[in-house]
Amino acid sequence: MDITGRNALVTGGATRVGKSLTLALAEAGADIFVHYNSSAGPAEETAAEVEGLGRRSAIGSANLSDPAAGEQLVADATEALGPISILINSASGFPKDTLADATLEGFRAALDLTLASPIFLTQRFAAALPDDMEGAVVNVTDVKTSRPYLDHFSYVIAKGGIDTFTRAAARALAPRIRVNAVALGVILPPPGEDDFYAEKLAAAIPMKRVGGTAPVAGAMLALVENDFITGEIVRVDGGGHIV
Ligand SMILES: NC(=O)c1ccc[n+]([C@@H]2O[C@H](COP(=O)([O-])OP(=O)(O)OC[C@H]3O[C@@H](n4cnc5c(N)ncnc54)[C@H](OP(=O)(O)O)[C@@H]3O)[C@@H](O)[C@H]2O)c1
Repeated sequence: MDITGRNALVTGGATRVGKSLTLALAEAGADIFVHYNSSAGPAEETAAEVEGLGRRSAIGSANLSDPAAGEQLVADATEALGPISILINSASGFPKDTLADATLEGFRAALDLTLASPIFLTQRFAAALPDDMEGAVVNVTDVKTSRPYLDHFSYVIAKGGIDTFTRAAARALAPRIRVNAVALGVILPPPGEDDFYAEKLAAAIPMKRVGGTAPVAGAMLALVENDFITGEIVRVDGGGHIV
């Protein structure tokens, strides 16, 4: 798929990993609708950076704790830029809980934000894609779905659902829309943690360093561009899964 001139919607596209995906797509020639929830200022700054790269950009807020919010988001993005043919599902929560202390309410909230929202956003994206256009979806998941965290129990179950959803949607939407995922390891320290926290985790992986966002953006672009890959989950984890 040639990215040049396409319109992309990036959820959580204003900050951190999502921002790197926004800017990588803009550098590759896409116009971007930057979704945010609370980061209005960073969304405006990111949109300005997209425009600085010579592409169009618009921003829009949606609280994806309500999976029904995706419908309006796709409508807003389409109205702002025209048909959206690339969807990046990066927004997510990262709640802390364990099997012992998880509550039904907290579990449902994690599923709504981190699993149901990307699913129904993809559904609306596919429904809105014009018949003569091909599309690509990239979900952002976590390598820890195969060797689960103990202390982000609800989150890791929701991301495990994203892995299965990636394969299910790839089958359901083929051949016109490809659906892939990037599974991240130690990319950035979680919000509220310092570099030392991530460096300690990185010491245990083969590449012995924190990944940063550039390798994630590179993998995402490769999945969007490659027309014969669908249903794939690419680990961007410095080899963490092999130790
Ligand atoms: N950082 C890592 O090393 C790492 C590792 C594994 C997986 N991941 C995955 O990579 C993706 C991005 O990671 P990150 O570290 O950049 O995430 P982050 O800093 O925790 O940011 C989360 C993003 O999700 C959005 N978001 C949170 N709650 C929302 C809500 N209720 N409605 C709509 N949007 C909401 C936030 O938007 P606002 O800021 O506008 O509120 C923000 O853009 C996530 O899917 C995460 O699970 C990251």
